[in-house]
Amino acid sequence: MLDLLITNATLPDGRSAMSIAVQGGKITEIKPGLQAQAHETVDAGGCLLAPHFCDPHFHMDATLSYGLPRVNESGTLLEGIALWGELKPMLKAEDMISRALAYCDWAVARGLLAIRSHVDTSDPSMLPVEAMLEVKKRVAGYLDLQLVAFPQDGVLRTQGGLDNLKRALDLGVDVVGGIPHFERTMAQGAESVKLLCELAAERGKLVDMHCDETDDPLSRHIETLAFEAQRLGLQGRVNGSHCTSMHSMDNYYVSKLIPLIAESGVSVVANPLINITLQGRHDTYPKRRGMTRVPELMAAGVNVAFGHDCVMDPWYGMGSGDMLEVAHMGLHVGQMTSQKGIRACFEAVTTHASKVMHLPGYGLEAGKDASFVLLQATDAIEAIRLRAHRLKVWRQGRLLAQAPRAESALSLPGRATSVDFTRRAAPG
Ligand code: FE2
Repeated sequence: MLDLLITNATLPDGRSAMSIAVQGGKITEIKPGLQAQAHETVDAGGCLLAPHFCDPHFHMDATLSYGLPRVNESGTLLEGIALWGELKPMLKAEDMISRALAYCDWAVARGLLAIRSHVDTSDPSMLPVEAMLEVKKRVAGYLDLQLVAFPQDGVLRTQGGLDNLKRALDLGVDVVGGIPHFERTMAQGAESVKLLCELAAERGKLVDMHCDETDDPLSRHIETLAFEAQRLGLQGRVNGSHCTSMHSMDNYYVSKLIPLIAESGVSVVANPLINITLQGRHDTYPKRRGMTRVPELMAAGVNVAFGHDCVMDPWYGMGSGDMLEVAHMGLHVGQMTSQKGIRACFEAVTTHASKVMHLPGYGLEAGKDASFVLLQATDAIEAIRLRAHRLKVWRQGRLLAQAPRAESALSLPGRATSVDFTRRAAPG
């Protein structure tokens, strides 16, 4: 007797009328029209069953603090950092924890069950670190929260910055972060990348750095990050987040840079909602988009994922934990409008993101965790177009969230009484 049998599901790879058998929290079999006894059988009604969403770049310590102590008037990254600096002395652990837990509730309802969050290690009090470790513990039964030691004010720029970051790792933070473009000079930025990669290699940690989150085409720390990944044998274990300067770089230089990133096995996370909001703020017109070169990196074989980065915090007042909104913005900003491009945007918030996070049980195949989301959409393209409604969310076979189908009643003479937004693209 199975624990759970889901029938008549469409999968992101296009297979339809599929059954998924679940036992002991794992997928035991996926095949069309499987008949078996189960404690619970769910008819997916032809809807899309996808592995759960993953957010590979977030700031859980700042989330839902929008308006505290004021809003970001200029909308720039730098005012956001200054505003966070004003807020930090007022932070209380219990408030941060309750805001983060509220966000995790939103995430689960949206089918987002794995989040990599940077946590500010600049303050010697370790207050954000301890608060986020507590959140990680509290949500462990339903959400994978991975923490990155993030020296927001610069690991070299801040007195004691490196010691604070090491203390965060000692306390149990998972990943080594950095912010080289915020150090005082290019040389200091490069030095920070080198020493943080060495620290990660020494401690067997993954690396995820905010890298070149600027419109300055000469901000080239991603080059150093890729070089250090190779030098230290960290291939596949290093991620460059944002990399927005690549948008503005000289094409000739990029033709040399992208192969280096691919060779070094460094992944890249773009944050489309935030990049389109924060970048280009010093431009008059035309204004640059600022997102990194997503299609070109993907074409070179680099693993590229999309992150949410911020929700209602000093940098961004919008958001609700919806990774389909992130994918939707990513495809627009990256002009990834081909069917292949749109599917790649869906993967950027699912499988690609899971690879960045090194999630071992992730994926729709036998032996993997039965952690998935049923979407009110017929395929991945439609899921992005509609920012599809989440009908059911399971983690390791356990139902965590569900919602009735979204429907609007119509009162139009001679027309149907409800509106159905699903409409598959004609094949070909
Ligand atoms: Fe960030």
